[in-house]
Amino acid sequence: METRRGPAALLPLLPLLLLLGASGFLQSYAVEVDVKDASNVTCLYAQWMMKFLIKYETNSSDYKNASLDLPSTVTHDGSVCGNDTQAALLAVQFGGGHSWSVNFTETNETYQADFIVFTYNTNDAAVFPDAKRKGLVTVVVKDSMHPIQLNNVFVCHHTTSVEAENVTQFVWNITMQPFVQNGTIGKTETRCHADTPTAAPTVVPTAANVTTTSTTTSSPAPTTAPKPVENPVTGNYSLKSGNKTCLLATVGLQLNVSQDKPLLININPKTTSTDGTCGNTSATLKLNDGNSTLIDFTFIVNASASVRKFYLKEVNVTLLNHLNGSVILNADNNNFSKWDAFLGNSYMCRKEQTLEINEDLQVHTFNLWVQPFLVKENKFAIAQECSLDDDTILIPIVVGAALAGLIVIIVIAYIIGRRKSYAGYQTL
Ligand SMILES: *[C@@H]1O[C@H](CO)[C@@H](O)[C@H](O)[C@H]1NC(C)=O
Ligand SMILES: *[C@@H]1O[C@H](CO)[C@@H](O)[C@H](O)[C@H]1NC(C)=O
Ligand SMILES: *[C@@H]1O[C@H](CO)[C@@H](O)[C@H](O)[C@H]1NC(C)=O
Ligand SMILES: *[C@@H]1O[C@H](CO)[C@@H](O)[C@H](O)[C@H]1NC(C)=O
Ligand SMILES: *[C@@H]1O[C@H](CO)[C@@H](O)[C@H](O)[C@H]1NC(C)=O
Ligand SMILES: *[C@@H]1O[C@H](CO)[C@@H](O)[C@H](O)[C@H]1NC(C)=O
Ligand SMILES: *[C@@H]1O[C@H](CO)[C@@H](O)[C@H](O)[C@H]1NC(C)=O
Ligand SMILES: *[C@@H]1O[C@H](CO)[C@@H](O)[C@H](O)[C@H]1NC(C)=O
Ligand SMILES: *[C@@H]1O[C@H](CO)[C@@H](O)[C@H](O)[C@H]1NC(C)=O
Ligand SMILES: *[C@@H]1O[C@H](CO)[C@@H](O)[C@H](O)[C@H]1NC(C)=O
Ligand SMILES: *[C@@H]1O[C@H](CO)[C@@H](O)[C@H](O)[C@H]1NC(C)=O
Ligand SMILES: *[C@@H]1O[C@H](CO)[C@@H](O)[C@H](O)[C@H]1NC(C)=O
Repeated sequence: METRRGPAALLPLLPLLLLLGASGFLQSYAVEVDVKDASNVTCLYAQWMMKFLIKYETNSSDYKNASLDLPSTVTHDGSVCGNDTQAALLAVQFGGGHSWSVNFTETNETYQADFIVFTYNTNDAAVFPDAKRKGLVTVVVKDSMHPIQLNNVFVCHHTTSVEAENVTQFVWNITMQPFVQNGTIGKTETRCHADTPTAAPTVVPTAANVTTTSTTTSSPAPTTAPKPVENPVTGNYSLKSGNKTCLLATVGLQLNVSQDKPLLININPKTTSTDGTCGNTSATLKLNDGNSTLIDFTFIVNASASVRKFYLKEVNVTLLNHLNGSVILNADNNNFSKWDAFLGNSYMCRKEQTLEINEDLQVHTFNLWVQPFLVKENKFAIAQECSLDDDTILIPIVVGAALAGLIVIIVIAYIIGRRKSYAGYQTL
């Protein structure tokens, strides 16, 4: 077992690299691990780039964000080839006592990542110069990767981030294959969903059905990001407490950033992961679009009112740099009192609404339906609709009122007419 870097190690992958557009690939600080089995042939191959953002407590009792990068050399002690009865393990150690690992299982001609375990050492003064507590901290995350056809190589250029405890892990430019057969990296590649061009939504790529030829379609990806003019796709998000759904939200989200130049970002529900907390008086839904945008919505129960209502209190939006995970923009507004409805009901607003976070950032919502408290049986309760939606009700009311008025006029006219004809009859 050895850890290699540089072009020589990439020779078996050369055809793949040519397809990937080799230029920037070789200059990058990718880490490469090539685990060999007892007969000295590759059984687990991985090349990837990664970085960590770690929030830690300082000796002056505030919190700081440390950024930890994978250095140019890592060791991979403890990595295991695995087979259909034993999990494969990719384990790397780096820097001042940090380590990261992911294990893979093999079932029914597919493989799948199981758990990611990241251990950082706050004794590393280069990264945590003023940490209050010194020692090892371990973060375990269940991987959400879909099963991949055995003998296919998994490729994902897109940056994926996972937030757990006080750590955000960013991984990108992944080329990886556990359970390699006969020492040969698979000729067929499975691309992650986020890499597949959104322009061709008719074919939902299944794990087994994205071949190398399809990578050519992703290479002319627009670097000059075209502004999305279309409305965002509506997503369904939920939180669980134990095995019970405690928060439901259906919404299409679009950010309007006006920092340097105006930019519209549509949140893609397919790549968005949810996190957060439910509670009796406060609930937070945290969305991470897997593409460097984090949005947190905090709902509060207004206990002082005679009839208890909930409302949206806070929205916190963070945009990160795709490559190094640094914060480009953070906007937080905890002064909202929007989306209010009676506790036990849900709130609905189908029309576009705007949440003004600050002068640089607005969040547009579409097809909103949300219930942050007292969700029963995984279903929305009765909805209270926003006033914007009410004008669809207003029109029938106006028409109805006009009709009622007309009827009154007709009735009066009829009575007057009868009176007249009656009077006329009497004179006869
Ligand atoms: C990731 O790989 C692509 C294609 O191989 C390359 O163009 C890009 O520069 C790499 N990303 C980084 C940050 O090096
Ligand atoms: C495995 O192969 C490498 C060269 O590819 C060689 O240097 C090494 O000694 C071999 N190890 C074993 C245990 O055969
Ligand atoms: C799987 O690997 C374990 C440990 O290396 C080994 O004991 C076992 O015999 C292997 N099973 C198969 C089916 O190869
Ligand atoms: C594997 O496939 C068999 C038959 O197709 C099925 O019965 C079994 O449930 C599958 N196992 C898993 C873990 O999907
Ligand atoms: C993968 O690793 C996690 C964490 O160490 C462990 O709990 C889990 O059992 C492992 N999975 C398998 C299939 O061995
Ligand atoms: C915190 O740690 C730094 C670095 O070790 C040290 O320079 C500083 O004096 C410490 N501050 C306090 C309040 O202990
Ligand atoms: C994570 O941050 C919270 C405060 O946000 C703190 O209470 C907790 O101790 C931190 N955990 C670790 C392991 O640093
Ligand atoms: C590995 O080699 C065996 C025997 O040579 C062959 O039957 C099998 O198809 C090969 N597997 C792959 C994935 O190439
Ligand atoms: C793979 O995708 C193509 C379209 O890109 C489709 O025609 C073909 O039927 C799919 N094959 C499988 C096995 O799903
Ligand atoms: C990621 O975000 C950038 C800029 O916000 C956007 O241009 C790009 O289309 C997004 N990619 C995906 C896969 O959503
Ligand atoms: C949820 O958990 C409770 C207690 O742990 C159990 O009684 C119930 O059957 C579970 N429900 C489902 C749908 O798994
Ligand atoms: C907003 O979210 C970011 C990223 O999750 C976090 O670092 C920051 O503390 C949050 N701000 C507030 C006021 O909650």
